[in-house]
Amino acid sequence: MSESRNRARTLAQESIDQGDFRSWFEKLYATSEGDAGQVPWADLIPNPHLVSWFSDKALDKTGRALVIACGLGDDAELLADLGFEVTAFDISPTCIEWCKKRYPDSKVDYQAADLFAKPASWEQAFDFIFEANTLQVLPESEQPEALRQIASCLAPEGDLLLCARLRDADDHRGELPWPLREKDFQILVDAGLRKENWEDFFDNEDPPVRRVRTLYKR
Ligand SMILES: C[S@@+](CC[C@H](N)C(=O)[O-])C[C@H]1O[C@@H](n2cnc3c(N)ncnc32)[C@H](O)[C@@H]1O
Repeated sequence: MSESRNRARTLAQESIDQGDFRSWFEKLYATSEGDAGQVPWADLIPNPHLVSWFSDKALDKTGRALVIACGLGDDAELLADLGFEVTAFDISPTCIEWCKKRYPDSKVDYQAADLFAKPASWEQAFDFIFEANTLQVLPESEQPEALRQIASCLAPEGDLLLCARLRDADDHRGELPWPLREKDFQILVDAGLRKENWEDFFDNEDPPVRRVRTLYKR
């Protein structure tokens, strides 16, 4: 178990025990003091399942894109390079400053914002939305509202691509990051989206991690 993941688990537990599931992210970024090795999810490369999504297919790469909880910005930069007009946000102001420092000439509009209190102007405003690895670091009780908030940003005919760890319905949730179940995504259908694609696979990590990459459309 990596030290950075242990540190994240401790910060998350302390925060959640105090009834606050939001503040540990800023604490983690701020106390990392610019060292990405302290941020367990910071691979400093675009998500490989986002890269392959676009390299496998001749998809439209124009219009407005939103990267949910963007971390250190690699996925947002990829989408901007592909041709999208990208907005990327994260709840941690330190994380957003870090993105701007990493990419001083970026075309991405980086914003510090809370998914649960997002700007009204984002309602049905984005043609492509990408979310990876965030639902699995939220308490189970917050996931339905997080999914509803994400869905509400999708424009008519828009595409929402999600990547997350996955488990069977009867598997124990285990430790953070907590894998999702297929039924957890039903909220998106209840919110008016339709499931277009569902890929349940093991990645190339050692040991391999079970993940889902799934596409929803409005
Ligand atoms: C596990 S990290 C994943 C980051 C990035 N998506 C990736 O795959 O590398 C979760 C991210 O969600 C952000 N986050 C957590 N809660 C959030 C919220 N309510 N609104 C916006 N961002 C949030 C955290 O600050 C953190 O950067």
